[in-house]
Amino acid sequence: MREVAIVGVGMTPFGELWDLSLRDLIVASSLKAMDDAKVDTVDSIYVGAMSSGLFNNQEHLASVAADYLGMVGVPATRCESACISGAVALKAAYLDVASGYSDIVLVTGVEKMTDVSGDKAVAGLSTASDDEFESYQGMTFPGLYAMIARAHMEKYGTTRRQLSLVSVKNHNNALKNPYAQFKLKMTPEAVESSVMVADPLHIMDCSPISDGAASVIIAPLDIVKERFKDHRIVKVLGLGHATGSIALHTRPDITNLDAVEKAGERAYKYAEVAPSDIQFAEVHDCFTIAEICELEALGFCAKGEGGKMTERGDTMPDGKLPVNVSGGLKAKGHPVGATGVAQIIEVTEQIRGDAGDRQLKDVNIGMAQNLGGSGGSSIVTILKGE
Ligand code: COA
Repeated sequence: MREVAIVGVGMTPFGELWDLSLRDLIVASSLKAMDDAKVDTVDSIYVGAMSSGLFNNQEHLASVAADYLGMVGVPATRCESACISGAVALKAAYLDVASGYSDIVLVTGVEKMTDVSGDKAVAGLSTASDDEFESYQGMTFPGLYAMIARAHMEKYGTTRRQLSLVSVKNHNNALKNPYAQFKLKMTPEAVESSVMVADPLHIMDCSPISDGAASVIIAPLDIVKERFKDHRIVKVLGLGHATGSIALHTRPDITNLDAVEKAGERAYKYAEVAPSDIQFAEVHDCFTIAEICELEALGFCAKGEGGKMTERGDTMPDGKLPVNVSGGLKAKGHPVGATGVAQIIEVTEQIRGDAGDRQLKDVNIGMAQNLGGSGGSSIVTILKGE
């Protein structure tokens, strides 16, 4: 396998983007990444999108991408795995380049969720849960994560305040991210007095419905060293992918995100690093409780200690392990297919030293962790500066 590096990044702002269509989003972010890499064509295209059929009545999205990017003829593939569609697209592209089949490859994650009404968007998202046992019975993702939160509170004594502190940190981090959907100075009181969605989760515990796209260009390390000299080299050090049971009721313990744990173990093994080597992470905080469970599943703290780790300030930008410096899904936004790629962009920019006002000091190794549905799948990617 060849070593692979990221040579270009680009994304649209995340939010309610009424003036941009699905294809506009794909083109805008892809061209930014191609511009950043200084390439005018690629050998292959991968598009990550969860539900362009339900949200925009448009399947066959990879061909739409190739066509509207002016690259008809280039092979293009759409990848779907709920909220990890973007990371799955990156994995497919990584294997394409690592195997030697392609050299320069474009990965674009996208979702345009506000073309449908809020209830249709929520119903569309819930198709990523177990239809027979969950969504058909009326269950939604806020409801599923509310059950995980309740179980975590009962088993480990995780507090309402600890959930709030995840939201406060991520919203306050987003104030420094020009691409973030929300720019709200947040306090625990504001989280706890916001409207209740599914007890104990308030609206300020939930990621929003968003539009947006994010793109990266990847290439083999030997070619990067020769041709791509504009940026610090950021290579893919390890990647782990795993599934977990799709429905909550079949899991031995719903407080444990098994897919994240397995994907993390595989990524650490591949990269030959330990959790203590990771200097910062972007994790999938679709709901505040998810960030707490992920800290535990990724081995950054013991089981049940994620809330306490948050309360100690360890995950703040000046803490031991800064988490979601971008604002995370909670505040940066969560156009589901784009999220996995946007996480990779944040980690890449931090390692390059290109993260502007939110730049962390002296970071060289970071993680992106993407989660599908309520934990049915996860991908963990570890990046390192050369
Ligand atoms: N956080 C903060 N503010 C939010 C928000 C969120 N998650 N969602 C909506 N808002 C704001 C809107 O910007 C709007 O503000 P405005 O009145 O100032 O314009 C207001 O709240 C009402 O927005 P609306 O779109 O009517 O909200 P809603 O009640 O229809 O939807 C949720 C709120 C929480 C139900 C919806 O955001 C949701 O389902 N989130 C979860 C998404 C999800 O499951 N993703 C997949 C994860 S696995």
